[in-house]
Amino acid sequence: MIRKEIEKLLYKSAQKQNIEGEFCVSFSSLPNLCDFQCNSCFAIAKKMGLNPFDLANNIVNHIPNNEYFNFSVARPAFINVSLTLQGLEHLAKNLSKISYDIADGKKIFLDYGGPNIGKAMHIGHMRSFNIGEAFKRLYKKLGFNVVCDIFLGDWGMPMGLIMAMLEKEGSLDDYINEKKPLTLEVMNVAYPKASLLKSQDEEFKHRAEELTLAFQKKQQPYYDFWKKLRNVSVSEIKKVCKLLNVDFDLWNGESDANEYIPTVLKIFEDKGLSRISEGALIVDVAEEGEQIPIPKKSPDEVQRYENPMPPLMLQKSNGGDMYATSDIATIYYRNKDYNPDILHYFTDVRQNQRFVQIFRACKKAGISPVNQQLWHTGFGTVNGKDGKALKTRDGNNMQLNDLLNMLYEKAEQKLIENGTAYDEDLKRKIGNAALKFADLSNSVEKDYNFDIDRVLSFEGKTGPYIQYTACRIKSILSKAPKFEENYSFTSEYHKNVLLALNRMSASYKICFEAKSLNDLCASLYDVASAFSSLYNACHILSEQDKKLQSAHLTLLKMVLKFIEEGCFILGIEVPEKM
Ligand code: ARG
Repeated sequence: MIRKEIEKLLYKSAQKQNIEGEFCVSFSSLPNLCDFQCNSCFAIAKKMGLNPFDLANNIVNHIPNNEYFNFSVARPAFINVSLTLQGLEHLAKNLSKISYDIADGKKIFLDYGGPNIGKAMHIGHMRSFNIGEAFKRLYKKLGFNVVCDIFLGDWGMPMGLIMAMLEKEGSLDDYINEKKPLTLEVMNVAYPKASLLKSQDEEFKHRAEELTLAFQKKQQPYYDFWKKLRNVSVSEIKKVCKLLNVDFDLWNGESDANEYIPTVLKIFEDKGLSRISEGALIVDVAEEGEQIPIPKKSPDEVQRYENPMPPLMLQKSNGGDMYATSDIATIYYRNKDYNPDILHYFTDVRQNQRFVQIFRACKKAGISPVNQQLWHTGFGTVNGKDGKALKTRDGNNMQLNDLLNMLYEKAEQKLIENGTAYDEDLKRKIGNAALKFADLSNSVEKDYNFDIDRVLSFEGKTGPYIQYTACRIKSILSKAPKFEENYSFTSEYHKNVLLALNRMSASYKICFEAKSLNDLCASLYDVASAFSSLYNACHILSEQDKKLQSAHLTLLKMVLKFIEEGCFILGIEVPEKM
């Protein structure tokens, strides 16, 4: 808002002199020199054939006197803007009443999480949970009408494999007839064994496929048993979601798309979009002229091109439905039931191409209306601090549960070291904050290395540091005398905090546009460190000048509110004490 105000002043001054152009004000890149800057004079002068330095001076000299901003020009043609004391007060009051609504009443449907029934959740699912949940919260903050679905992978072979394994071990009937209790443990033991055996034993694999087809065709007793397996798995997934502070409006899955597959296949057929190729049903999704050069092996080689977008397979040659077809059928019924303006998906980057294919197919077939936006955010892989796949202590691939346990255990050690009283919930909150801040502060599509000790540190760019800052402020405010809000901010420390808050207030929109949350993490850290400088330099609770003390405390309240709001978006819970 403040930047817009400055832009308006520049624009009006220019207009008075018949200078046309857009003035764009940014945060200062040289905070020692000014608070905001405008670099637009170069482009405008060039367009109008003027001297940039003269133009900048002209504009600045024609701004009417105002109480909030000091303008100056630096060579070659930068306009520098500094806030006056009144300007600072104005900024602070503005910050307390910002509206973040940019949604214009739009509805957005999010698809994230996507754990698979019957299999342990892996680190990729954790990323999808963290990123998707943060976007859900961000979209709500920006005023969107939001619906989200976990989209369970519940219709594929893992359940058939578990059934085949139990059958082979002779216990399937007992589980079906409930003579033996079906537990998560049973599934967790059966699945890895089955998955291994599948690659060694053709007959076993074939049986697992048969059983998969049986429950997919709703044949009894397999279909009802599939439901039982699904329930056991879902209750476990719900527990993990609760730990991770993630929740969903809908718990649908691939299985819910099943009934719409025939309709969707008919749409493709009726529109003449699908065709049979080598026995499979496919739809062409490449766009005209879309060719990418194949790298040449030698400079004299003739340049060859390949079409980057292969056709999408709707049905395998054996008639089995494809994962992509479930996604298309899901878009079909999501549109029927919710009709969102935007659908936003979050998966591993390795699914990028798949989503381009699916989106194109839906647009071609009119399953997604012309004005509906389809977005896919592909995220990178998390590795250990050595850049290799994360492993448990006994050398196995780390699953999501292993990672959470390790984080909570390490958080506990930290709390013991610091002599802080704690309970399970505090361990969880700190472990999650460490995880989420690390996960979200990297730009989404990149791989990153996860160093568990570093992310759990109470200092530096970490989730626990942000939580710790908030707790510190809470503690000061709880000990502070009663005070009246005072917006006369006089010190450089106040100013730095306010500028950091102002920077953070712009972050939500930046994250929205970039489809990445790293900017919010960075601004939260800047707010926390600007506060720490103030805290180290000023004796807030023992301050004798009551006016100054109330300004400190007013500012602290604002900082706490901003940190709590930012943490909320990231899914980080701020404890009372730590
Ligand atoms: N179940 C999938 C997996 O584990 C992720 C689902 C992603 N969402 C989607 N609509 N396909 O890879």
